[in-house]
Order: sequence, then structure tokens, then C-alpha cells
Amino acid sequence: MTAPRTVIRGGLVVTAADETHADVLIEAGRIAAIAAHGSSAAESWTDNHVIDATGKYVIPGGVDGHTHMEMPFGGTTASDTFETGTRAAAWGGTTTIVDFAIQDIGRSLRSGLDAWLDKADAQCAIDYAFHMIVSDVNDETLKEMDVLVEEGVTSFKMFMAYPGVFYSDDGKILRAMQRASGNGGLVMMHAENGIAIDVLVQQALAAGKTDPRYHGEVRHALLEAEATHRAIQLSRVAGSPLYVVHVSAQQAVAELAAARDQGLPVFGETCPQYLFLSTDNLAEPGFEGAKYVCSTPLRPREHQAALWQGLRTDDLQVVSTDHCPFCFSGQKDMGQGDFSRIPNGLPGVENRMDLLHQAVVEGRISRRRWIDIACAAPARMFGLYPRKGTIAPGADADVVVYDPHAEQVISAGTHHMNVDYSAYEGRRITGRVETVLSRGVPVIQDRSYVGRAGHGRYTPRGICQYLG
Ligand code: URP
Ligand code: ZN
Ligand code: ZN
Ligand code: ZN
Repeated sequence: MTAPRTVIRGGLVVTAADETHADVLIEAGRIAAIAAHGSSAAESWTDNHVIDATGKYVIPGGVDGHTHMEMPFGGTTASDTFETGTRAAAWGGTTTIVDFAIQDIGRSLRSGLDAWLDKADAQCAIDYAFHMIVSDVNDETLKEMDVLVEEGVTSFKMFMAYPGVFYSDDGKILRAMQRASGNGGLVMMHAENGIAIDVLVQQALAAGKTDPRYHGEVRHALLEAEATHRAIQLSRVAGSPLYVVHVSAQQAVAELAAARDQGLPVFGETCPQYLFLSTDNLAEPGFEGAKYVCSTPLRPREHQAALWQGLRTDDLQVVSTDHCPFCFSGQKDMGQGDFSRIPNGLPGVENRMDLLHQAVVEGRISRRRWIDIACAAPARMFGLYPRKGTIAPGADADVVVYDPHAEQVISAGTHHMNVDYSAYEGRRITGRVETVLSRGVPVIQDRSYVGRAGHGRYTPRGICQYLG
């Protein structure tokens, strides 16, 4: 479908920088102009398809910088495909995802990227890009990093956790960081001391501690803080920037804040599960806790205040979902009797914009900060701004009409993710997506899905725009 010439009239246009009552003109899939509502300029836009946004917010489509569609992990595969997951993302007001291609040990980055490009090809309802998971650092891999940066895969996830799977030792991490310091790449770190955690896992299981809640206990907050500290020091030695993914422990936030106070190019992401859920969920009876097993793990409720504070002070810049769903029945239950066999990951790609809007309603963050952490900052972090993440002339017309007054209750019975439970079941939200445009083409129209698999385009990225 070609994008119709469209005017969105009468809404409150909210970006990370501004809030204005304005009309938005869309032509050829891009934002053509923005003019004050009722102005002669806006009145002159006739002969268009009109979307009435009176009483609504007009916001940039969400940019989810951390998803794992159909990821093979923990002996199974994440239950959302690129088709189902991007459709659900659109339902939740997200118009771009950055997913993770995986380098298998003994293979090239290129072969991993090609495999993921193939999986996503012609499947996505919204635009998508890739980070690269580096699991095998060697001379060839390092050379390939340069090529990938040139081609628009400008960020590389490495793991201090999961020995024997994705884990890299400090020497490998240092070498990749040194390479990134020369080629403009951004190293994204899963910062948990996986070697120590594996010892604690074995000790817990030997002591008969097999329930899901022990997943949270063995993945100690101090082992997240220690790894975060070490990653920061390694990045300093290498002279490279660092982005720490899925930060959950208050002690890890403190490490990031201290580094940033020294002016270091260190960035952090947290996720809705750490802001809204806690070890109380992991301790739910009857194996229900398995629904909440992810890594880094959910923390005691006290950690949430530090995460919200970090988002307000910009010590954390981004909220991504780390969407990695596994069905309770048939996947999470692989870990009955042994928490270490529960596949790690939570669903959430559909819920992020709403949960963060709820935080606006509750006064935790401002409306503009909502758009910053969910749209503009991830777009900048991953080299997609201002094409994505804002509403400005020339930007892709990825636009959401958001009703800030609608009431909804999150439930697996009504969500669109391909997973048999919701981590937020029964949670009341004020605010709801009404209409979603992707490059000017309707994907969600008045709460109906009108998109199609294959509309979404692969989007090569520039380098991190937080670096001078
Ligand atoms: O539990 C998680 N986070 N699963 C996805 C893989 C990762 O480490 O991000
Ligand atoms: Zn108004
Ligand atoms: Zn991770
Ligand atoms: Zn992840």
C-alpha cells in the first residue's frame, strides 16, 4: 500500500523536546510539515485523508531497542515469530524494533546476520534492524565487526553470563571493545558474573532449592553490580563506549551513575519488568514464578526506586522490553524441578508504551520523558534518529494516536503476543493506542489491525548518536 496524504488534526503532539497543539501533514510516508492547530498553514492542508486526534496525543512510534523474536534459547525457541511479534508491537504503539542476530560459535558474524535477515524477511509488520550477538571473538570476527558497522549493524551484544553459550571472558570482551573504539561500534553488555552464578546455581540445586524463586537468589544483585563495574573498567581501558542492557539492580545503577559523573560514555537500559515486577512474582506459588524467570532477574521491590530515579536523572537512557516470550505450558515448564532449566525471558513488546504511560499518569516521569526513553533515546542510541523516534519534518511518518484517557486491563486473553500468559495480567492502565502509522501507512486503525506482514523494512543504522 502506498502511504496516503494524511493530516492528523487537533491532537497534542508530544516529542522528547516539545508538546504543542498542532496538526501534522504526512506525504509520501514522511512528516511533511507541522503547524499550529487552527493556523492558516494547517487550514490550507485540504484534499487529505484526515485523522481526528482531538483530545488525543500524537506521538512518535515507539522504538524497542531490545527484542528476541523466534530466538533459539534454553533448549527451545522464543514463541513470537517476526510476524506475530511485530504485529503485537504495532498493537502496543511500537513501530521499530532492533532485534539480535546471533553468531554461532565457530561461525562468522555474516552467517548469523544472514540467517536473521532471512527469518525476518517479508514477515514484519513494522520496520526492523539488528544488533549482532558476538559469541566467538577471534581475528576474523574482529575484522567482520568493521564491515558490519559500515553496513548498518553498529552494535554488538556480549555476555559476561551464560558460560558455554554466549559467554565471553574479559580478554575477548576487551578485544571486541578495542575494535569498537576504532570503528564506531557500540558494545552492549549483559553484565552478570556468569561464572560465579553457575557455582551458586549448582549449590542451590544440590541443596534441593529447585523452585523458580531461587533463580532470583543465585543471580545476586552484587554479581550484576560487579560485572557492570568490570565492564565499565574494560571499556575505559579500551577507550570504547558501553551500553549496559537490562539493568535491574540498584547497585548496578550506582555503577553507571558514578561512571557518568566522571563523563564516561557509558549508557544504560532498563525494562518494564524491572520497573513493575519484583521477586514477589518469582515467589508466586505452584510454579507460577516460572513466568517471571529472566536474566538479569527480577529484584526485590526496593530496587525499583533507583531505576525510576535513574530514568529521571538520565543515568538510564532507554527502556526496552528484552521481549523474549516462552509459553508457560510446554516451554517454561521444562524447568519443573530445576529452575535452571526454565527458559529465560519475558513477553512485553506490546505493553511497553502503555506501562510507561501509566508511569506518566502516576507522576513518576513526565510525558516528554516517556517519549524520550521509549522513542527518541533508543533511536539516537542505535543510530536511527531523527528518521525514527520523533515527529519532525523529514522523519518517517511512524506516528501513534494515543488516547490518554482510555482505560484498559492487560490480559493474555486480549493481547496479541503469541504467548499463553501475560506478565502483567490484570494490571489496569490508563491510556491506549488508537491508531498507528508506519511510514504513513495505517497498521492499526481505530483499534483494528490493518497492517500486513512484509510492510516492515529492514533498516540499516548509523552509529550511536550520543557520541561526539
Ligand atoms: O532472560 C532474558 N533476558 N532472555 C533473553 C536473553 C538476554 O539475555 O537478553
Ligand atoms: Zn488539548
Ligand atoms: Zn541479556
Ligand atoms: Zn535480551
